[in-house]
Amino acid sequence: MAKLDKDIEQIFLPSLKTARMRKNLPTEIINFEVDDEYKNLGIGKTYYIYTYGCQGNMADSEIMAGILEKIGYTYSKDPINADVVLLNTCAVRENAEQRIWGVLGQLKGRKRTHPDMIIGICGCMPQEEKATNKLINSYEFVDIIFGTHNRDHLPKLIKMAYDTKETVVEVLSNEGCILENTPKIRESEFKAWVHIMYGCDEFCTYCIVPYTRGKERSRKKEDILNEIKELKEKGYKEITLLGQNVNAYGKDLDNGKYTFGDLLIDIDKIGINRVRFTSPHPRDMDEKAMQAMANCKSIMPHLHFPVQSGNDRVLKIMNRKYTRKEYLDKVNRLYELIPNISITTDIIVGFPGETYEEFKDTISLVKEARFEGAYTFIYSKREGTPAAVMDDPISIEEKHLWFDELCKATNEGYLKGHERFVGEIVEVLVEGPAKSGNNMMSGYTPNNKLTHFESTDNSLIGKFVNVKITKANTWFMIGDLVE
Ligand code: 5AD
Ligand code: SF4
Repeated sequence: MAKLDKDIEQIFLPSLKTARMRKNLPTEIINFEVDDEYKNLGIGKTYYIYTYGCQGNMADSEIMAGILEKIGYTYSKDPINADVVLLNTCAVRENAEQRIWGVLGQLKGRKRTHPDMIIGICGCMPQEEKATNKLINSYEFVDIIFGTHNRDHLPKLIKMAYDTKETVVEVLSNEGCILENTPKIRESEFKAWVHIMYGCDEFCTYCIVPYTRGKERSRKKEDILNEIKELKEKGYKEITLLGQNVNAYGKDLDNGKYTFGDLLIDIDKIGINRVRFTSPHPRDMDEKAMQAMANCKSIMPHLHFPVQSGNDRVLKIMNRKYTRKEYLDKVNRLYELIPNISITTDIIVGFPGETYEEFKDTISLVKEARFEGAYTFIYSKREGTPAAVMDDPISIEEKHLWFDELCKATNEGYLKGHERFVGEIVEVLVEGPAKSGNNMMSGYTPNNKLTHFESTDNSLIGKFVNVKITKANTWFMIGDLVE
């Protein structure tokens, strides 16, 4: 393994114990710059980035692409031909990790015939001790291992890997900083991610994210607004504000006087067509944010509002800090303020100790909250979290049966959410040709409903069109273009 710094003789390995600590120190803001010594590192070479997990990771990959291009690398469509291949990983569930081991297996063969290629693993997985140890001990062909707190070191880490031909490991388990002034290669020319905050201090007992992403820290309002103004000038039509708990925005700045609701109001004034955000924590969803959603024209009538469980005892041992009633009160307030809103959610099935009766409360909540969609997950044990040591007597086979029952309920919600638009004219932001082909184009409505319509006109991509909905099924709506 390469020493990161010849003088300090140090290798930075992750520690979940350190990552759990919150020291309440001021957040460091780093303005990204590339040292002259790295400027031409990638000239004549290509890169490819695999991205797994949440939208936060997608946004991070756009930054890493920006950094790589800044030092001369060009994008390769195909990982097989790339000189640098990065795997931006997710640690939130076991199956996300399984996929990484699979891809690494494929890359191993290519590395054998192309020893000069660089394979890097980054994102949440290396923040876990177990994963990094496995990488170091069993995947010695991996060149760089780094985490979520030091993306800005990428040029240095690549250079070290070229120079030493050893595995370079730099995983920091600190609370995290804020990286500004980063170059970005955005995947879309009309939809963009905008981070408003990083990290999470909620410590839900099943979740690894507060350990892998550091403390909750908000970007300065001016930096966010300037980024959005720039996107508007470039012609972007839709932005999605990102954070693990977007409603915690501002709590760490200026005594928490300027909140997420205030930010929504100021963003609305910029006049970008569509604004979305993900994800809010139900406990922190306050009246001001709900009012802002209702009154700001650009904030779309869709809320992804993770509930996780509909049972009070389970919510308590999950450390979610709200009850079923408190959650439903907020949902009902949202329906009152924004009658047309679509609410979607995240649900975990089979949390340690959950009984079938308790699970049934989740099913009834799905109906009561009138969810129009849900990401549903079977509980996955994450080492180092409190839930990992809780008694978990229900078999995985049984959890799968519960999971199927839950999907039946959430699928009904998806269908109803589409059916209610049949006969209506909706505005669609066109994304491109439908995946199924059939001379159809696809896009999303303000309520975030996937909509297909007959057209082969590629000039519509990135534009708004009106579509009259003629048919609805569980996963999408179909309609006709109208003038
Ligand atoms: N097991 C299953 N699902 C999880 N999530 C987070 N941690 C776990 C886990 N250990 C889900 C939650 C969260 C979403 C992003 O992932 O539902 O909202
Ligand atoms: Fe994980 Fe809970 Fe934080 Fe969401 S709010 S990232 S589920 S700890």
